[in-house]
Amino acid sequence: MKIAMIGTGYVGLVSGACFSDFGHDVICVDKDISKITALENGIMPIYEPGLEELVLRNVAAGRLSFTTEIEAVKGAAAIFIAVGTPSRRGDGHADLRYVFAAAEEIAANLDGPAVVVDKSTVPVGTGDEVERIMREKAPNLDIAVVSNPEFLREGAAIDDFKRPDRIVIGSEDERANDVMREVYRPLFLNKSPLLFTGRRTAELIKYAANAFLATKITFINEMADLCEKVGANVQDVSRGMGSDNRIGSKFLHAGPGYGGSCFPKDTLALIKTAQDYNSPMQIVESVVQVNDKRKRAMGRKVIEAMGGDVRGKKIAMLGLTFKPNTDDMRDAPSIAIVQALEDAGAQICAYDPEGMKEAAHIMATVDMKQNAYETAQSADALVIVTEWDIFRALDMRRILTSMKGNIMVDLRNIYDDHDMREIGFSYTSVGR
Ligand code: NAD
Ligand code: UGA
Repeated sequence: MKIAMIGTGYVGLVSGACFSDFGHDVICVDKDISKITALENGIMPIYEPGLEELVLRNVAAGRLSFTTEIEAVKGAAAIFIAVGTPSRRGDGHADLRYVFAAAEEIAANLDGPAVVVDKSTVPVGTGDEVERIMREKAPNLDIAVVSNPEFLREGAAIDDFKRPDRIVIGSEDERANDVMREVYRPLFLNKSPLLFTGRRTAELIKYAANAFLATKITFINEMADLCEKVGANVQDVSRGMGSDNRIGSKFLHAGPGYGGSCFPKDTLALIKTAQDYNSPMQIVESVVQVNDKRKRAMGRKVIEAMGGDVRGKKIAMLGLTFKPNTDDMRDAPSIAIVQALEDAGAQICAYDPEGMKEAAHIMATVDMKQNAYETAQSADALVIVTEWDIFRALDMRRILTSMKGNIMVDLRNIYDDHDMREIGFSYTSVGR
């Protein structure tokens, strides 16, 4: 089956590469010439574990190719839209201009019946508008518009795509449903459940899932604050509540607040949709407020751990990306933390295994180092912001000896309180 993927970012590239690995013939289209040129030369535009090998193998097998030419949609049985839907400046609603532009470009280049599948995360009703655009631009063609939201996580994207908990397909068109069954047949045979719903329902499922996960994280983060006040341990609370099957243990790790390219923008967009339909989502509104405040509050937590005054102090930060195993810096908590500490007069140096190139554009004043040990050298305090595996078993005695001070703030709870104090750190973590 020939598949065209419009947008070759995190979702488009991973989905396209995985579809080609199932045996489909995939062409990935992007407007960004530098991205396509890099891919044509075997260079990945993003860091995602396993992606390079997957892409190179399928390109070599002749099943995966890249282009900037939208004409590539001709003859494709399914055309996926996987372009960005960032927050619109000003009101926080999803900015749909890339989706609508892609829809227009696809319609202008089709020469026969087609199934157009929206994989971008879009507010309820967007599929209706995409269909309207298609009908207007290509009135004589039989085009079905399907919603197929994507649930992969960065850093685990290939595994999530190939072993999904469910595949949601929103369409009322039986011919389109047959095409979607064929697209996902390899996963279907592996017993990944296909959930067929109405298109609007599928669009809403995506927001419901992300908002719920963001709520779960925010709940445990507030619980962590309470734990600190009452002398309880949030990791044990999390274990104790998460082992109830009705609650589940995942997404109950307390930390500096959720970030990334999705939870922050998708919670905002859901709030806007709910307001537009006069059906406010007050829980999600609170989640957004609590999470926004939390990121900067983590800067204050560091300042307090350092005695209340960080002017002229050197602070070493380990991890800058919003989570490990990605180079994505979008809405990373580190941005607010660096800002808060610099505002208070501190000098920041940092190391991140994959995020420093991207981070350098956002935090130009931060002194980027080559590894964790170099970062800690002569620092007054060490702050762990992202739980990369490489930070989990550092030689902490060596680190402490090279530091000027002995303060450590572990915002991901990856070290043991008792062990760190025994080594000689003045150790603070989250909710313990
Ligand atoms: P991204 O910014 O990494 O990639 C989007 C790409 O689309 C860019 O390369 C851009 O150049 C390209 N593009 C824009 N308009 C185009 C057009 N008209 N023709 C061709 N290419 C075009 O975005 P992303 O992170 O992959 O997210 C894409 C969508 O998927 C968003 O709606 C997002 O919410 C959703 N999503 C993302 C993730 C994730 O982990 N990143 C997971 C699930 C869902
Ligand atoms: C998230 C969802 O998990 C995916 O299902 C969804 O497809 C994606 O958004 C999307 O719509 O784009 P992602 O943002 O890649 O995926 O990463 P997550 O693993 O969900 O982490 C998001 C943030 O929450 C990170 O900052 C992470 O550190 C934080 N988090 C996560 C916690 O603080 N505690 C946890 O227990 C889990």
